[in-house]
Amino acid sequence: MIKVYPSILAADLLNMGNDIERMLSAGVDGLHVDIMDAHFVPNLSFAPAMVSAIHKRFSDVWQDVHLMMDNPQDYLDTFMDAGADAVTVHAEIEADVGEILRKIRARGVKAGISIKPKTPAAAIEPLLDICDLILVMTVEPGFGGQKFMADMMPKISYLRKIGYPGNILVDGGVNAETAVQCVEAGADTLIMGTALLKAQNPSAVMAACRALEK
Ligand code: DX5
Ligand code: ZN
Repeated sequence: MIKVYPSILAADLLNMGNDIERMLSAGVDGLHVDIMDAHFVPNLSFAPAMVSAIHKRFSDVWQDVHLMMDNPQDYLDTFMDAGADAVTVHAEIEADVGEILRKIRARGVKAGISIKPKTPAAAIEPLLDICDLILVMTVEPGFGGQKFMADMMPKISYLRKIGYPGNILVDGGVNAETAVQCVEAGADTLIMGTALLKAQNPSAVMAACRALEK
């Protein structure tokens, strides 16, 4: 089944609860929470308190937490204590990513690794056995609302070709149209910020995504 997670970076921050309710009514499969540290990316977003606030009010909603941070190793427990169901770190950081993935898994949380557009899929091959998901960035991380980079699709097909069995998520500029290429390449999870949260009719966007499964 293709899963769809809205990125709450595109929510109306003063109406976060309502926006999450709207997304759940449209039938999304979870929430994507972008954490930015102003070092790994030139932007700041949410703190662990956002994850715990969501967890308190929407305790059964899956939270896919994307750590765009230079030092995620110092915050893993904080985010998992807050209620993260999946924690993704970037392949490009200096810390020992293998050790980070093992620590996440040891707590029964899904461990993810993300690659920026300039990072080849081959760079994470040694880590494929110890991650539950791969998040392929289709924009330079840092901001919502950017243009989808279709030339990232071969990374997804390559990962499937070499037999990667876990989830492959696509993040950045994904909408009902660009989602077609993502699914064809082998992705099973679509992250959508602008395309879902700013949509007039998010249920129609969800229906278009669901139709991709057939
Ligand atoms: C970008 C973030 C994305 C972003 C997606 O750094 O990781 O999750 O919110 O937003 P859209 O779908 O608007 O490109
Ligand atoms: Zn993200």
